[in-house]
Amino acid sequence: MAKNKLNKNWLHDHINDPYVKAAQKDGYRARAAYKLKEIDEDEKLVRSGQVIVDLGCTPGSWGQYVRRKLAGKEGGGINGTIIGLDILPMEPIADMHFIQGDFREQESVDQLAALLQGRKVDLVLSDMAPNLSGIASADAARMEDLIDLALEFSQLHLKPGGALLVKCFKDMGFSQIVEKFRHEFKTVTQKKPKASRDKSSEIFLLGRGLKQPAEN
Ligand SMILES: C[S@@+](CC[C@H](N)C(=O)[O-])C[C@H]1O[C@@H](n2cnc3c(N)ncnc32)[C@H](O)[C@@H]1O
Repeated sequence: MAKNKLNKNWLHDHINDPYVKAAQKDGYRARAAYKLKEIDEDEKLVRSGQVIVDLGCTPGSWGQYVRRKLAGKEGGGINGTIIGLDILPMEPIADMHFIQGDFREQESVDQLAALLQGRKVDLVLSDMAPNLSGIASADAARMEDLIDLALEFSQLHLKPGGALLVKCFKDMGFSQIVEKFRHEFKTVTQKKPKASRDKSSEIFLLGRGLKQPAEN
């Protein structure tokens, strides 16, 4: 299909997308908020008092959703900690720490660890996706690399009963990723929220409860 036609189709879908409309109404920066919302409503992941890490957080709709859930009824601050990281800048979100950095670089991971100040994490979220080159094997390898790093981080920093939710693509090394999750977590669940477009191979993988939590 010609590029112009593709753009037109995308624009048509975007304008008529109920989640785009809902995001505008609810003040979310992206429709992606509803993916996390649906998974959270199903799985009861986000709770008051938690320490939550949001990898690939820009433009910030997952952070906004999490912040709203951790906020007290009377407004004011939040009960809990949210730390987001992205290569791209992000408009600030009240009470959310933000690190601009590449998660593949040790320096970024060290900055995250420094903000944690030794606290263990309840929930690691990753909506990270690499810039796609169009070369299937290279894209799959990049995706797997990001997920491996999120797994490694979770192994080191999650509480024993903590959870890791990552974005995957069914056509990008998915079965190997599921295997790795099964190796690390007591329960592994696949989630395809309604807000994740049917024509996209996007799927989320949720691991809960580390089989072998780190000692310290
Ligand atoms: C789909 S967007 C995330 C949307 C976000 N969850 C929200 O609700 O607003 C994916 C993000 O992952 C980020 N990303 C991709 N690779 C990354 C990396 N190596 N380190 C940090 N962020 C990365 C991108 O810059 C992009 O902002």
